[in-house]
Amino acid sequence: MPWLAAISAAILVFTGVWVESEEDGDLPPQLQYRHKVMEAVGAHMDGIVAIVREEVDHSDHLLSHAEAMHGLAKITPDIFPPGSEGGDALSEIWEDPEEFSEKLVEFREAASHFADTVRSADKADLPASLRRLGQSCRGCHRSYRKR
Ligand code: HEC
Repeated sequence: MPWLAAISAAILVFTGVWVESEEDGDLPPQLQYRHKVMEAVGAHMDGIVAIVREEVDHSDHLLSHAEAMHGLAKITPDIFPPGSEGGDALSEIWEDPEEFSEKLVEFREAASHFADTVRSADKADLPASLRRLGQSCRGCHRSYRKR
């Protein structure tokens, strides 16, 4: 019966959504928010890499991803307020805010530079600029994220 199949499909879809939100739902809103912002950062990075590697034919999307990344880099300092310790974020973030803020600045500058490079007529700098952006992720994760 086709309608039965449709209903079970819908239940499966909702179950999937529920399971995911239940996992995140155990966390305080500020931590869920941080995860969502970082997932967005990760999703734009995946998009950028797929375009630059020419796995997808969407080079006209590159600037949208680059500008979104720059926007997210600008709000990243706000997603670690005092009292939001937890998740995969290491306590060193709140213990040594000055050193942590260097990572935030490097991320913002790398994202800004990448967006400028995508905007510029001369794309020769693109690989180096993307490498710098990737290093800004790793530089922070290495010191301030679990795993
Ligand atoms: C200034 C530090 C910092 C920078 C820069 C940074 N991240 Fe993160 N990222 C974190 C921390 C800390 C977490 C763990 C957050 C938590 O669990 O609450 C995280 C988590 C993540 C996650 C997992 C999200 C989830 O579901 O929990 C992804 C994906 C991610 N980052 C991608 C990136 C990418 C890609 C970049 C660079 C373009 C980047 N991050 C730059 C600190 C940073």
